[in-house]
Amino acid sequence: MLEVTGLRVSYGGIQAVRGITFHVNEGEMVALIGANGAGKSSTLRALARLLEPAGGSVRYRGKELVSLPPYQLVGEGIALVPEGRGVFPRMSCLENLRMGAYARNDKAEIERDLEHVLGLFPRLKERAQQTAGTLSGGEQQMLAIGRALMSKPKLMLLDEPSMGLAPIMVQKIFEVIRTVSLEGMTILLVEQNAKLALEVSQRGYVMESGEITVTDESKKLLADPKVRAAYLGE
Ligand SMILES: Nc1ncnc2c1ncn2[C@@H]1O[C@H](COP(=O)(O)OP(=O)(O)O)[C@@H](O)[C@H]1O
Ligand SMILES: [Mg+2]
Repeated sequence: MLEVTGLRVSYGGIQAVRGITFHVNEGEMVALIGANGAGKSSTLRALARLLEPAGGSVRYRGKELVSLPPYQLVGEGIALVPEGRGVFPRMSCLENLRMGAYARNDKAEIERDLEHVLGLFPRLKERAQQTAGTLSGGEQQMLAIGRALMSKPKLMLLDEPSMGLAPIMVQKIFEVIRTVSLEGMTILLVEQNAKLALEVSQRGYVMESGEITVTDESKKLLADPKVRAAYLGE
């Protein structure tokens, strides 16, 4: 579904992503793990066309994305849940969720999807009328994921959904990510929390200083002594 070849991202003279190659098959959940500063978010931002890559190719369902204007990405079925969530703070939960569907006009289906999202996140249903800016960090993360789901994506790009959240919230959010994956969604999951990411994904890539250094099935990475020493705190 997604085929990234030789992707490079630079900020001025600094090379944050140094020619990485990876792919995501339809229906898969793939983890991209690595320490802070490894280049994970830069990779996602380049895929979401929020920044212009310095080089490389991003093919998505056979189409070259690098030449596509960013506003067309939602229409292509790609949704980014950015680091830091980016909910609209003055809008209610419900308004945020409806914003996720702004590019759609299948009214009846939007309502069905809204019910589905509120079913995945009962917490959001309870807080439907609450202003998003007053939600807890975990609830905002739920809302950001819910809003992305409302665009009815084929590919979800998740940037550090566990960041800064209490373990119980992380658990709830990852249960939903797992459910959405089982429902057939293709997911690229970026996480510093390598253990969590490798436990829910099928395959993983390890990123270090802008390069992919290891890739394997997630369960093999979880058992790999080098990965365990470097990323699982052992
Ligand atoms: N907007 C920016 N301007 C300059 N440098 C940046 C910017 N964003 C990220 N970087 C640098 O790029 C590198 C990779 O950052 P990032 O992609 O955010 O890593 P990660 O998400 O893995 O923590 C880091 O050295 C970071 O300091
Ligand atoms: Mg990041």
